Amino acid sequence: LPVVNIGICGLGTVGQGVWKHITRSRAKFESRLGAKLVLKRASVRNLAKKRSVRVSKSRMSDDPMAVATDPSIQIVCELIGGTTVAKEVTLAALKLGKTVISANKALVCECGPEIFAAARENGGHYFFEASVAGGIPIIKALREGLVANRFGRIYGILNGTCNYIITRMEREGLSYPVILKEAKALGYAEADESLDVEGWDTAHKASILAYLAHGTWVPTKSMVVEGITKLSQADIQFAEESGYAIKLLAVITRDLDSDELAVSVAPTLLPRTKVLANVNEVYNGISVAGDVVGETVYIGRGAGQDATASAVISDIVDAIALLLRGNAPLPEPVEHQCPLCLPE
Ligand code: NDP
Ligand code: HSE
Repeated sequence: LPVVNIGICGLGTVGQGVWKHITRSRAKFESRLGAKLVLKRASVRNLAKKRSVRVSKSRMSDDPMAVATDPSIQIVCELIGGTTVAKEVTLAALKLGKTVISANKALVCECGPEIFAAARENGGHYFFEASVAGGIPIIKALREGLVANRFGRIYGILNGTCNYIITRMEREGLSYPVILKEAKALGYAEADESLDVEGWDTAHKASILAYLAHGTWVPTKSMVVEGITKLSQADIQFAEESGYAIKLLAVITRDLDSDELAVSVAPTLLPRTKVLANVNEVYNGISVAGDVVGETVYIGRGAGQDATASAVISDIVDAIALLLRGNAPLPEPVEHQCPLCLPE
């Protein structure tokens, strides 16, 4: 079997999830791909920190650049976050013609065009399914499944931490700093949690969706962005008594006649009758209105180790299939064992 070596830059919440699930389900991926998957190396900032996955010392490094540029590695997962080291290792790997997979919405939003160009010019690929809405395959939906459509309005709950905070405020009357601490402990929040609660993480994700839907990069400075820091118990009670839920919504609106495009992020009153008003806890929800298909709605866990690992691994599988065969793999058929049939 051909061998594909994978390097994981950043073995934190998401990186450890990817390592864990690839290790657990390696046989399934290998049979589907017809290739051997090797988790060759991983990098962290602090080698002394305890990890939830077992990685031999010889595979660990505190130099992400060494992992990203290792000649034996074909696929680099950038799971560091931020826009400095993450950008350097991404561009270095792409310039060597490698494929890079990322969950980093801040980087895609701020440097998308430069990164996509580096991938194109050097014959590599850049995948970023995990950058928006955690485990929901919304990037694939916009990039592939809904390609026949023009989109009048896309709106959604794109930040798991904020939705978790709002839900707990509603249900338990807790104040937001207490719940934010919990969201951090659960691995939902960004390293800099102000990105979550001040709305910027949602804005980064909205910018990526607007690009995929409309081909236009809308910088966050052109958006009206408000987070949940001013949300009070009084606001939540008022909404509840009036038959509404408050959700931190990203709204991407395109006037299909004038082509005007507007993106905003703000706490918004949603009637309880709307599906997204009932999307709670760490779940995200996105409504996409296409002129051909009509409305489609997506719901799933928007943050956390496993949901995000699910999206990163889907990119890894796609990337390997593309490297080996040029298309996404289908499962190898196995004979159906009907539980109703008597054994012969
Ligand atoms: P963590 O902070 O848990 O992990 C970051 C990893 O990168 C750690 O292993 C850390 O090392 C390493 N690292 C950080 N800074 C440096 C540096 N300067 N040099 C070398 N290594 C560094 O973050 P997450 O796993 O939560 O997030 C990773 C990415 O995934 C981010 O872009 C985030 O926005 C995105 N994401 C996160 C989700 C989530 O639910 N957590 C969901 C979707 C996307 P060490 O462990 O030693 O500190
Ligand atoms: N901090 C982000 C969130 C992680 O809470 O949604 C997922 O992108």
